Order: sequence, then C-alpha cells, then structure tokens
Amino acid sequence: MQEKVAHIIGKYHSDKGFLVPILQDVQKEFNYLPKEALTAVGTQLQVPLSRIYEVATFYRAFSLTPRGKHQLSLCVGTACHVRGAPMIQDGIERVLDIRAGQTTADLEFTFETVNCLGACALGPILVVDGEYQGQVTLSKANKLLKKLGKKVATDEED
Ligand code: FES
Repeated sequence: MQEKVAHIIGKYHSDKGFLVPILQDVQKEFNYLPKEALTAVGTQLQVPLSRIYEVATFYRAFSLTPRGKHQLSLCVGTACHVRGAPMIQDGIERVLDIRAGQTTADLEFTFETVNCLGACALGPILVVDGEYQGQVTLSKANKLLKKLGKKVATDEED
C-alpha cells in the first residue's frame, strides 16, 4: 500500500497543494480511503493526519469505508419517488441482500439512495458506475445488475 501511495504522490511531485486529487487517486486505487493509505499520505506529504481526515470527511465523494467495485445510486427525490423509486429500491436491496448505504460482503456492489439528480423528466434515475440510466423499472434494474455479473432469480426479472 505504501508503494502505491508513494507512486500516486510522485505523480504530483509531493506537492501538498494537490491533496484533494491525491486522495481522489488513492480512492480510485482502493475504491475507498483505507486508514493505512491516509497515514501514508500524511507521512509522505508531511501533512497532519487530522488535516487529511478533515478533507476526506468534507467531500461526499470520499469514502472511509470499503466500497464495492460497482456503485449504484438510486434517486429517491420526489419525482423519482412518485414514478416508482421505492419499488426499485426494494428490488435492488433484495437482489443484493443489503440495505441502501451498504456494500455487499464480496465488495462487488455498493448501493445508495440520493436526492434529486436534476433529471426528473427521465425518472426514476439509477446511476450505475457513473452512468445515468433513465426511466428505470425493476426489470431494467435487474437486467443492469445481471450485466454486472449479479445472479438474479428468474422471478425477480420481470
Ligand atoms: S427527483 Fe430524481 S432526478 Fe429529480
């Protein structure tokens, strides 16, 4: 882990002014910000660990807990809610066997709910690995999960 962090920091010439992009790269590498990686960043950049945690907890995009390889965010804003988001949420939670806000034990999927993504006309919106999917139905959500390698029971597909 130390070497990977050193490599990332090297790309930014050990400039502590690049702390945010450095943390973004660390998160890209490990899918989250492991404690040891943050300690390594602090030591190598000579920045107090408290400052690093300040930054890591300020930005919502950073995660201090392990995240899945695939990230699913379902909009549960008002427009998406009335168009069936709760049913889709139930379905995804059932297939992944986790609740919103959690990551599967095999670290394959993280599922979360978010508020209005500003694309209400296309709701319900499900963001899969950064890609917006509009007018999502339960069946479409299951097909997307299947495409990502998740086994979906046949009776869950319709
Ligand atoms: S409420 Fe879902 S995109 Fe606006």
